[in-house]
Amino acid sequence: MNNYDFVFYKNTFINREIAFILDKEYEFIDNVDEFNGKKKLFISDLKYLSDVKKLKRHKDYFLMEDLYDYFDKIDEEDANGTRDLEKINEIPINELTLTQMLVKVLYSKPRDINCKILEEEANIDVYGDVWGCCPTWTGKTFGNITSKDVYNNYTERMLKLSSMNKTFCFCFLNMCKNYDKPYLKKFNENIELKSLKIPKQLTLSIDRTCNLKCKSCRNEFYKASIIESFHSFEIVSKLKEIGWLNNSCLLMAGQGEVFFSPTYLKILKDPSITGDTIKIMSNGTLFTENKWKLLENKFKNIYVAISIDASSKDVYTKLRRGNFDVLLKNLEMLGEKRKEGKIVSYQFNFVVQKDNISDMPNFIKLAKRFNVDIVKFTKLNDWGTTSLEEYEENSLLTDDDCISRELYEMFKYPEFKDKIVDISDFSTYIENSKKKYERKTS
Ligand SMILES: C[S@@+](CC[C@H](N)C(=O)[O-])C[C@H]1O[C@@H](n2cnc3c(N)ncnc32)[C@H](O)[C@@H]1O
Repeated sequence: MNNYDFVFYKNTFINREIAFILDKEYEFIDNVDEFNGKKKLFISDLKYLSDVKKLKRHKDYFLMEDLYDYFDKIDEEDANGTRDLEKINEIPINELTLTQMLVKVLYSKPRDINCKILEEEANIDVYGDVWGCCPTWTGKTFGNITSKDVYNNYTERMLKLSSMNKTFCFCFLNMCKNYDKPYLKKFNENIELKSLKIPKQLTLSIDRTCNLKCKSCRNEFYKASIIESFHSFEIVSKLKEIGWLNNSCLLMAGQGEVFFSPTYLKILKDPSITGDTIKIMSNGTLFTENKWKLLENKFKNIYVAISIDASSKDVYTKLRRGNFDVLLKNLEMLGEKRKEGKIVSYQFNFVVQKDNISDMPNFIKLAKRFNVDIVKFTKLNDWGTTSLEEYEENSLLTDDDCISRELYEMFKYPEFKDKIVDISDFSTYIENSKKKYERKTS
């Protein structure tokens, strides 16, 4: 920061965090003009920050000229009280103007959260909208992949800023309770950031087509129509054109089944799409040796996560409605690949629900049989497949941010002490439940 000259423009100041994100992170230096021999940065007339006395203790103010248009109506907004943080906090995140986003990000309280997802990743959905994180956890998209400035635009910068200054003020924190995700660091540590404009990790959620209809996810089978597939193919072409597919670590797939969807298979079969790292998230039922061949020799580092949610045939058939015997065969094949060192990390996923908690300890045993590195237990989110009452019953989460006593007792099984087990999604709930259920009586 100290290497730059600073220009004040229209009495407007901006704090160093914004400056940092605009300049340092996004090579904004390209757009800097010379102004009286000094580097001129960009500024809007942020009159609402008339509280400059507060800011004056920072020496490093930046100017953002090209934001000016967005703040033109600032007085109007002020009249509506939209610069008041409390009022802004009542507005749904996806309806916030850039001005309101800026106020929110500058004045919200920092939190003790250790997550880099918004800064480092992108998630693209079936409509081509690009999100900084899973859309379940963040309230605002960066924009659509078809628009020119989908990356490096102001919304995206505000979102990233909210992570850099640790306010996380655009995140649905009630949906994402566990902020510190050590497994993520492990997952990401070997990925080189090739270009600042390309996400480190790109999650593809561009096709919902799947061979299963898991109870937690949907009530009916879903297969994209020809028009929808055509649209997904267009998204793929766009991603190829801008270099994201070959330069990001690919996570396939956040939605739909990677080995069933024509869109994902097209990507895997395209000889021009290769890369350092691919992370496969699959239901595993179609993950045969032939499918493995689509990955081998194409990607240097292959991570595999299989979503299972059960360790017995009965529970599997009830919740995932797939063929458990076929799945076991594929899990074994993948376990061998892990043993041979062809898979970097092998993970089993388990979404905890009322009907599968008794399978939890054995699930860990099953994973150990197949050389699994991580067994991840996550909470059930409300994806609208049932009534709210049913969801609350199935999720075993209670209103006071605890888990049901039955689930709390389940986590005490010795199997959960194994270092391959990741229950970080539940850590806050377990802590709260401990206080609730183990309260000492005098
Ligand atoms: C929608 S699936 C798509 C990828 C792939 N077909 C699979 O099964 O892993 C992505 C992940 O979401 C999980 N999932 C499904 N329904 C969920 C829910 N209601 N709440 C939380 N996670 C859910 C799945 O278990 C899986 O790990």
